[in-house]
Amino acid sequence: MELCKLRMAIAIILQMILHVGVISQCIPTTLEGPFMPVTRSFDPSLRRGSDDIPMDDPRLKRNVTSMFPEQIALAISSPTSMWVSWVTGDSQIGLNVTPLDPSTVASEVWYGKESGKYSMQKTGDSMVYSQLYPFEGLQNYTSGIIHHVKIDGKQATQLFSIATYVMLNLLHSDIHAVSIGLFMKIGLEPGTKYYYKCGDSAFPAMSEEQAFQSLPLPGPNTYPSRIAVIGDLGLTSNSTTTIDHLIENDPSMILMVGDLTYANQYLTTGGKGASCFSCSFPNAPIRETYQPRWDGWGRAEESEALKGSLWIVERAVREFVTVVRVRESESGVEFEFQCGCSSSGAQESGIMRRFMEPLISRVPMMVIEGNHEIEPQAAEITFKSYLTRFSVPSEESGSNTNFYYSFDAGGVHFIMLGAYVDYNNTGAQYAWLKKDLLNLDRSITPWLVAAWHPPWYNSYSSHYQEFECMRQEMEALLYHYGVDIVLSGHVHAYERMNRVYNYTLDPCGPLYITVGDGGNIEQVDVDHADDLGKCPSAGDNVPEFGGVCHLNFSSGPAKGYFCWDRQPEWSAYRESSFGHGILEVLNSTYALWTWHRNQDIYKQDSHGDQIYIVRQPQLCSITSKESDVTILTSQPKETRGGFKIPSFGAFICYLLITTLILLPRTKCMGTGRRGRRVSP
Ligand SMILES: *[C@@H]1O[C@H](CO)[C@@H](O)[C@H](O)[C@H]1NC(C)=O
Ligand SMILES: *[C@@H]1O[C@H](CO)[C@@H](O)[C@H](O)[C@H]1NC(C)=O
Ligand SMILES: *[C@@H]1O[C@H](CO)[C@@H](O)[C@H](O)[C@H]1NC(C)=O
Ligand SMILES: *[C@@H]1O[C@H](CO)[C@@H](O)[C@H](O)[C@H]1NC(C)=O
Ligand SMILES: *[C@@H]1O[C@H](CO)[C@@H](O)[C@H](O)[C@H]1NC(C)=O
Ligand SMILES: *[C@@H]1O[C@H](CO)[C@@H](O)[C@H](O)[C@H]1NC(C)=O
Ligand SMILES: *[C@@H]1O[C@H](CO)[C@@H](O)[C@H](O)[C@H]1NC(C)=O
Ligand SMILES: [Fe+2]
Repeated sequence: MELCKLRMAIAIILQMILHVGVISQCIPTTLEGPFMPVTRSFDPSLRRGSDDIPMDDPRLKRNVTSMFPEQIALAISSPTSMWVSWVTGDSQIGLNVTPLDPSTVASEVWYGKESGKYSMQKTGDSMVYSQLYPFEGLQNYTSGIIHHVKIDGKQATQLFSIATYVMLNLLHSDIHAVSIGLFMKIGLEPGTKYYYKCGDSAFPAMSEEQAFQSLPLPGPNTYPSRIAVIGDLGLTSNSTTTIDHLIENDPSMILMVGDLTYANQYLTTGGKGASCFSCSFPNAPIRETYQPRWDGWGRAEESEALKGSLWIVERAVREFVTVVRVRESESGVEFEFQCGCSSSGAQESGIMRRFMEPLISRVPMMVIEGNHEIEPQAAEITFKSYLTRFSVPSEESGSNTNFYYSFDAGGVHFIMLGAYVDYNNTGAQYAWLKKDLLNLDRSITPWLVAAWHPPWYNSYSSHYQEFECMRQEMEALLYHYGVDIVLSGHVHAYERMNRVYNYTLDPCGPLYITVGDGGNIEQVDVDHADDLGKCPSAGDNVPEFGGVCHLNFSSGPAKGYFCWDRQPEWSAYRESSFGHGILEVLNSTYALWTWHRNQDIYKQDSHGDQIYIVRQPQLCSITSKESDVTILTSQPKETRGGFKIPSFGAFICYLLITTLILLPRTKCMGTGRRGRRVSP
């Protein structure tokens, strides 16, 4: 046993040394681009997909009784507040379903900075939704009660500390720090661990204690440590591999770029999931869904023995040696491992125990809708499950809709766009987007990351040029404001582009990345539009929303043609595999992007693609793109470190009050300030 521990410690140290050595040498940066296109084809030793986990699997069953909370999930509300969502009560499916009354159970969150001590409480809203099919033989569904509570930290002591922070910085004429301080307002403290329970204390039916780490405040030097990106996840054994792998990478937040559960691969009667719709349910009067899949997706058990710190040990072991078998016994968890590089049987012996709840009850997940969320039902109602189950910062970002919104996480401004609602430049989404971009201050959030479900740049046959109309409507606006990275899914494979704008290589264009490779039941996409005989025809790839704007290229090697005859120059790297991405923003100009392939889960060298994404603010500032000013109705705000004061009188008043109240505290708060500006 002692020997084993020692070996493990040596292994970890060696690993750290080796890792640093390798990384500093060979990771390319986007500055070296554009790169020659590279294709890595599908590993034929893998199967292209796997079946869904069946509903009777213990992981998908409800593990609580009566009004106890389940499917607990977090989402970012603002830099200083968090949404907590969960479900209580029994959903029903069948004939004559009766919706539950949401007012029968309260929505409470108790929380605080110390385990077991909840100094703060918040209440919120609860709702139910129904999925109704007025067709012979189809069953109706009505959900459990879905709760959403926004938590922040309205505490008097915090108010004091913030006021002091602002004042101190004013005394030091550090205007920039003041603007961050004002932004912070009153809320959760940044980079702080909070413990919480949710439920209804009157029943009593409160959950077990959960915990999360709040995000850093917006600022050019503070970033979430690891931003995980997943798309087209589904609920197969491949999906669980993706989630296991992602948990090992210890994300601080998650972007989920659409197509979540694939509940619409089922008939309302349950049945076996199909890997495509048209081939299996040709005579259905409407595209059916089996809504209990959503509930199964939101829960999933974590083995008690693997909770907490144990998985960190497990990760260390996995990175250096091959885990042959992990077994739970009465005395705990046993690892059997081998030194060496063989990975055979890795996926079979994986611990497929974790799914959404154990992950998203401690790490916030930000969702955007995909086509599998449309789910049409009676009375032409769509998106009911997506809209009811998830909280997003819609009011916080002024979009007032869950179909598109924006938020900050440290010095990154995220824009989540809706591809399945009006995206025309005459519509509400475009108007909101323009306003959101206009109000950006890049000296506070240097990074601008956009995400939506279907990719604009895609060289696979699947969904090739499907969302050309959306690109033609919105691309110029995003380019003008210097979007740094665009993340999409929809295509079930990985692809990273060279920086591109309007199908032309451009050092100031965004870096587009497709990660629709979460592992859903529809299998990996392997055909490229440039493969012989694989160029889609006009009737293929018709979007489920919006028009068809397929275009033939007007310049370059594919001039006059719909498809290239080789991998297009704007496609830098593509590989047919399942996986997920991790974005680590290092400072205001450098971020490390790593794509992790599922099959590398137990390998030491675990990444499929890695690159430093480098911003060039001087080369690509807004004013250096004069040719695009036509899209503006007014001039953009200059980037600067200042802040707007609503009224000068009010401000002086505020200053006087805070000075009087807080003068004795200033000294000790001064050190607090420095702490806050450092990324946790
Ligand atoms: C999906 O999972 C199955 C079963 O675990 C495995 O055999 C298959 O190779 C996986 N496919 C991919 C593409 O990872
Ligand atoms: C929940 O899961 C645990 C561990 O898997 C099990 O012991 C317990 O009986 C389950 N509870 C219910 C209500 O199903
Ligand atoms: C489902 O709901 C629809 C709309 O309310 C209704 O017309 C239909 O009869 C219901 N079906 C069943 C099986 O209860
Ligand atoms: C968007 O604009 C196109 C062309 O101008 C039009 O055909 C389409 O109906 C518009 N879509 C919406 C949702 O308004
Ligand atoms: C994009 O390219 C097309 C064809 O090459 C051209 O007609 C169009 O004007 C360009 N759009 C912009 C916004 O530059
Ligand atoms: C577009 O390209 C396809 C082949 O890729 C060709 O058949 C078609 O005629 C072209 N259309 C136009 C308008 O040039
Ligand atoms: C960001 O980090 C990179 C790599 O460590 C470094 O070369 C660069 O100078 C840094 N940039 C800023 C603005 O700090
Ligand atoms: Fe999709």
